[in-house]
Amino acid sequence: MSKIAVLGFGTVGSGTVEVFCKNKSNYCKKTGQSLDIKYILDVRDFPESPYADKFVKDFDTIVNDPEVTVVAELIGGNTFAYDCVKRALQAGKSVVTSNKELVATKGAELLQIAAEKNVNFFFEASVGGGIPIIRPLQQCLMSDEITSIAGILNGTTNYILTKMLKESAEFADVLAKAQELGYAERDPEADVSGGDACRKICILASLIFGEHIYPEDVYTEGVTSITKEDAEYAANWGGVIKLIASAQKCGKCLEIVVCPCFVSCESQLSGVDDVFNAILVRGEATGEVVFYGRGAGKYPTASAVVADILNAVKNESKNICWKEKGAESCVVDYKKQEHRFYLRLADTDKAKVSELFGDVEFLNRANMPEGEIALITPELCREELDKKCGDLKVLGKIQLFDIGG
Ligand code: HSE
Repeated sequence: MSKIAVLGFGTVGSGTVEVFCKNKSNYCKKTGQSLDIKYILDVRDFPESPYADKFVKDFDTIVNDPEVTVVAELIGGNTFAYDCVKRALQAGKSVVTSNKELVATKGAELLQIAAEKNVNFFFEASVGGGIPIIRPLQQCLMSDEITSIAGILNGTTNYILTKMLKESAEFADVLAKAQELGYAERDPEADVSGGDACRKICILASLIFGEHIYPEDVYTEGVTSITKEDAEYAANWGGVIKLIASAQKCGKCLEIVVCPCFVSCESQLSGVDDVFNAILVRGEATGEVVFYGRGAGKYPTASAVVADILNAVKNESKNICWKEKGAESCVVDYKKQEHRFYLRLADTDKAKVSELFGDVEFLNRANMPEGEIALITPELCREELDKKCGDLKVLGKIQLFDIGG
């Protein structure tokens, strides 16, 4: 008999309990064991809940109970949640989590403890919500050398960009709706600033690189400066604007960046709208594989958490592993990497811009104001771009997505 403890009864925690209890009898057949949720930890009271008898407020009750073999951490953050996860692993209990902040900042350490204690630390739900990506990377694609991963990893910003740019909705209204639908983080600043996507690409990059990649080493730009005008120019160029998180191996180093990008309509990522996420993985032997699905929301995320619980109960999957980062950062300076860029400039003219940037592609939109110029630059690094833009009045600056098809 496996007893499970769920920490946190918020959006994902309550979804996990619901999904688990609804399908419990099937899970017993699937795992060959009887299993049940014994505890739910939350500081709040839920007297009307059908699970009211399972609530506890003290983590000691859980960690000291030898019957509990799997702990599902769904609290979020990396303070109290970190303490609970560490103690649970040290006590010889497997842990599953949807907490990307925890995995992105403490993953190497927690994986090490799990390995020492011969238990599992799984986090399928931490990236891509209901999309299977961690286990496919770790198992199905393990024979291949993965050279790059790029994707739309934040459901909230993708939802916001879709509604703002396709339906002319206001930023604040769409964000409020994303919160209501349970897509956004408790502090949605992490979504709109790109921080959430950054944590997720760090997790994926650590997996393919075998070394912990920390969020503070990653250049991260959010979506708050994207305008409808930029979207119109993107359409004129033949694409759309998406918040892209990418990691690409360059020899022994890694280029890893989160920023809005112009994505060509020919790319598989261009049609990914609303709360959907897509992750494009390129392997030397496999070529491109795309993973697509709901990247946020109560039930998609809960289904990934419950799958991890079942895998932990069966203990069939062996631990994921990556080592602590070395003394020297393997992340290359993003400012020195060459890309093409979209620029929107005011108070200038085509001759001046051509002289400065060389062979550019000019873009148009309806009702362009006098003196506004929009263009696509030739390949150049951000350092050079910033230098060239020094005296110009820049209204918009967005990288072109250039990984994969
Ligand atoms: N806030 C996150 C998102 C939730 O919008 O993608 C899923 O990790």
